[in-house]
Parts: sequence; C-alpha cells; structure tokens
Amino acid sequence: MSSKASNQLWAASFPITQDQARPLLDQLEETLNPAPLSLSSYETETANCWMVEALFDELIEPEIFTPILTSDLLNGLTIKPLPQENWVEKSLENLKPIRVGQFYIYGHHNEPPPHSGTKAIRINAGQAFGTGHHATTIGCLHAIETILKNESPCNVLDLGCGTGILAFAVANLSSAHIVASDNDPIAIQVAQEVAKDNALAQRIEFVTAQGFRHRTIETRHPYDLILANILARPLVALAVNMKHQLAPGGTVVLSGLLATQEQLVLNAYLAQGFRLKFRVPLEEWMTLVLKR
Ligand SMILES: C[S@@+](CC[C@H](N)C(=O)[O-])C[C@H]1O[C@@H](n2cnc3c(N)ncnc32)[C@H](O)[C@@H]1O
Repeated sequence: MSSKASNQLWAASFPITQDQARPLLDQLEETLNPAPLSLSSYETETANCWMVEALFDELIEPEIFTPILTSDLLNGLTIKPLPQENWVEKSLENLKPIRVGQFYIYGHHNEPPPHSGTKAIRINAGQAFGTGHHATTIGCLHAIETILKNESPCNVLDLGCGTGILAFAVANLSSAHIVASDNDPIAIQVAQEVAKDNALAQRIEFVTAQGFRHRTIETRHPYDLILANILARPLVALAVNMKHQLAPGGTVVLSGLLATQEQLVLNAYLAQGFRLKFRVPLEEWMTLVLKR
C-alpha cells in the first residue's frame, strides 16, 4: 500500500468549524499513526467553514482517523494524491538571496550576484542551519565585517558552524586558517559540500565536535577570533573554556541569544575578564562582540 518510493504526497482533508479546528489539530498530532508530514487548517470561502488538511508521504487508510473523528466528520473525509511537484524547489522559490554588507548569499535557484565587488557565498537551503536569513547569522556577518576592517586574525574557529556560512565569510575577507566545528555530523557533511561548491574547501578544516572537545580544535588553539552562534545557555557553559581557547587580545563573537538573555551571557564572560566591544541587536536577537 505504501507509495513512499514515488515521492507521491497524499492529502487527507475534511470540513470543520473554526472552533472545532484547534483542539482537533492537537489531538490529531498526538494520535495519528502514521504521523502526518504536516497538519493545518484553513478558512474556505463558505461562511464558518474551515478545512483540516493532513499531508502524508504514503497512501493512508481512512480508519486511522476513526478513533478521533465523529461520524459526521468522517463522512466528510477525502484522501487524494497531491499533484506531483518538486517540493524542494517550491520551498526554495521563497528563499530570496540576501545582502549583508559586502556579503551576497544566494542559492542555486537564484540569479548569481548582480555586481562584482560583492563577496558571494552560494548556499542551498538544506539540512543544516545557516542560509543567512536568520537574524543571528546576519548579526554575526555584520560583526565579522566590522572586526575584519581593523583586525587580521590568522587563526579562526567557527564553533557551531551549521552550513559553514560564518567560516566562508571570514575566508572571503581574510587569509586566516579556519577550523569549523559542529556537534551535528550532518551539518559538517553539508558544510563540507558547500565549501567545495564555493572553492573554499582547502581553506577550512571541518570537525564534528561537542563544544571544544576535539583534538584538532585543541591543537590549533589559541585562536585570535572565535565565532559561536549557538544558544545562550551553551554559551554561558563555554565561557571558562572560551578564555582558555582564545589568545590574549583575541575577539569572540557570541550569538544565538535573545536580547532578553544578553545580561546572562555577558555576566558569564565579564566574570572571565572579557570586555564588551560592541553589540549588534537585530529583531529580538543579540550578537555580542567581546575581547579577551
Ligand atoms: C544557530 S546554528 C548557527 C549556524 C551558523 N553558524 C550560522 O551562524 O548561521 C547553531 C549550530 O551550532 C550547533 N551547535 C549547537 N550547540 C553546539 C555545541 N555545544 N557544540 C558544537 N556545535 C553546536 C548546531 O548543531 C547548529 O548547527
């Protein structure tokens, strides 16, 4: 019965009132087996008539809904194949190229950079974080550009590299040796592919590591620039080690924290003797640049 091999998607849908929709969606999410790829509700053109839609990557039996739906709702249930589309391409269509300072970040589906003089980085949306669209990444790119106007780091660590976007930004603006690490092996695989695609593979050493725990990271330290766009609490946990890994006078870029978490993170680093150089607030996020 399964049609997974063909990449065919199936939509199960039924009409409902707006009030019924929300609690039912929660129940469907908890109960449906197999679990749908997505669950949504939307308003139709008929007054007070909404539709619930569950998407599956295989043809499912209507019986999976019987423990949850009343017989009235079951009567309205239809299960239909979705027209074949390239869903990856579809989602990429919405991902516009972005410019951050000199950096132009784009995907294969976009036009190549419009001007010479931009530092172009080609990254496709995929399985790793870091297409350049998130405020934390943008904050880091602004910070990198500002730092590299005044400093020429030789030894750089991008901790929590995702697609490797920050490492690529540094590689574009400096001749530094760069180590890029992530605790997610898939992110490292993606980053290595993106590095090759941007002809930067020779410039960057990629390692899968939790925090600083890797022989390459240890061997290469001390760094004169460390980029860490992770989350507030791991950043706090890394503060003591960050001091050990960074050369005296070195710079660290901390991101992934909400503006409301700034003081928490800052206190942990001030306690280690770091000084705040500048901040890049963006939406509800904060990027901090500190000196050891
Ligand atoms: C917010 S993403 C940032 C990706 C990219 N650097 C950017 O700026 O767009 C955070 C990345 O850090 C990784 N990560 C989170 N905690 C980590 C840790 N303790 N050690 C190594 N990597 C970590 C995650 O797997 C994820 O790929």
